[in-house]
Amino acid sequence: MTIVLLGYMASGKSSVSKLLGKELKLPVIDLDIYIEEKEERSIREIFELEGEIYFRMKEHQYLKEILEVKNDAIISLGGGTPCYANNMNLIHEYTQHTFYLQTSIPEIINRVKDEKSQRPLISAIADEDLPEFIGKHLFERNTFYQQAAHVVFTDKKNITELVEEIKGTLN
Ligand code: S3P
Repeated sequence: MTIVLLGYMASGKSSVSKLLGKELKLPVIDLDIYIEEKEERSIREIFELEGEIYFRMKEHQYLKEILEVKNDAIISLGGGTPCYANNMNLIHEYTQHTFYLQTSIPEIINRVKDEKSQRPLISAIADEDLPEFIGKHLFERNTFYQQAAHVVFTDKKNITELVEEIKGTLN
């Protein structure tokens, strides 16, 4: 079984995938980490040195590689992965177990505000401009995120609760 987790930055994809993988005894592949290992540099460096278009091209290439090779796995996407290169259609050729971890704008702001420097897309946005930026960004991305087979709301839930919710839909 292949399970794909998607959602905006800081929606909990990585933490949820780790616990889900442990409980279902499935390997976990974090696309961001996979890209960093293959490219031998950080996402931040890739954005800085090569630009976003190069990153999106590589993101698509490595996503395809993972889907082709790993049949039984939890795949945690990057926040933007569903929105480029027809990636949601590609994913649905391999699995219907797709989960959108939906987080509210205030909750996202709360979680990202102290770690902006690690996130190339928001590192240059002033704190006071974050609500407008994230609001617009989510609005643009929503069509892609909503293509997931399941939507899981993450506000006020801990990782264990989210994992239970996901497992419940698999039975
Ligand atoms: C991105 C989210 C990041 C990473 C890259 C771009 C985005 O992943 O792929 O910085 O476009 O939202 P996380 O959602 O894991 O932070």
